[in-house]
Amino acid sequence: MHVKYSYLEEQFAEPKPILDAIERLVRTADYTLGKPVEEFERRFAEVIGTKYAVGVNSGTDALFLSLKAAGIGPGDEIITVPNTFIATVGAIVAAGAKPVFVDVLEDDFTVNPELIESAITPRTRAIMPVHYAGHPAEMPDILAIAEKHSLLVVEDACQAIGAEIAGRRVGTFGLAAGFSLHPLKNLNVWGDGGVIVTSNKAIRDRLILLRNHGLENRDEVQIFGYNSRLDSLQAVVGNCLIGDIEKVTETRIKWAGIYDQALADLKEYITIPRRKDGRRYVYHLYMLKVQRRDELLAYLNEREIEAKIHYPVPLHLQAAARDLGYKEGDFPVAEAQTRSILTLPVHQHLTAKQVEYVIETIQAFYR
Ligand SMILES: Cc1ncc(COP(=O)(O)O)c(C=O)c1O
Repeated sequence: MHVKYSYLEEQFAEPKPILDAIERLVRTADYTLGKPVEEFERRFAEVIGTKYAVGVNSGTDALFLSLKAAGIGPGDEIITVPNTFIATVGAIVAAGAKPVFVDVLEDDFTVNPELIESAITPRTRAIMPVHYAGHPAEMPDILAIAEKHSLLVVEDACQAIGAEIAGRRVGTFGLAAGFSLHPLKNLNVWGDGGVIVTSNKAIRDRLILLRNHGLENRDEVQIFGYNSRLDSLQAVVGNCLIGDIEKVTETRIKWAGIYDQALADLKEYITIPRRKDGRRYVYHLYMLKVQRRDELLAYLNEREIEAKIHYPVPLHLQAAARDLGYKEGDFPVAEAQTRSILTLPVHQHLTAKQVEYVIETIQAFYR
């Protein structure tokens, strides 16, 4: 039985409604910004439970432009984690700031709040927690530290649409948050797209300028900006899919619950990250820590189960980060995780039989 990691062929097996909506857009010639983007922003803000959403061209730009809008630039330090997709750190560097890493929690994949204060210097301006894999970071603790030291918080929520802490969605805790609409994200479009959410009107107004060359109107430029608009065409795709996001999320939560329950019997070999009460984990990735990881990965792949590793090299040990001055051993928890983490398929197009097959194959491996 083939258990694929990507589900795009299944998701778009019947693309007619989306193609029809795109045809309507083509006939209106409303290709940049305009109604489709406005509608998508309104609906996205509703999903997150925030005041404003601003569509941009990627999750990376959502983070980069959030930092720019917050006035962050050269000489500033931003605290984040070494176990994230490169774009978190790329966005900080693109804004001209310096990423400063802090290790992650043993029982989860998000920043360890107890270690944040020791990384704060007079140059620290912001904390960028990552809601990695769809696990909400420890926002109450992070906000308390930020307040104590007068730091901004910009959330990397690219993997975490719909994740919650005590009923409050991630993206609503910081000054701003970036989301990704990349094809493999829980809410996806047909290419690149991103969204910034904020409830701060001044930040929202600045973002509206920054994403569109700083243009106040056709002839007046307020500030130098960028070309980072969410394409109207991608907004049309997003508008066709956003109504399904709760169903998609609930299906992922269901498969994750079945994995959690079945794999709990293998606790000698498998560590399931903690699932805290009152949290909604949205499982962009279903990640475990496992023994004999590379052998298990090969065993699953040979049996047509597309398990993956997110990611095998922590960012402080990437060649790109060499000038930041870190070395092996600096972040022992994140480093150990890169040797044991494994991602299982958890998407909304799996069948119960496929999930069962993944479980049985893992059980067979350890037996
Ligand atoms: C944690 C994280 N941050 C940032 C990004 C960047 O998003 P995008 O690929 O839309 O630029 C991604 C996704 O790729 C991500 O997973």
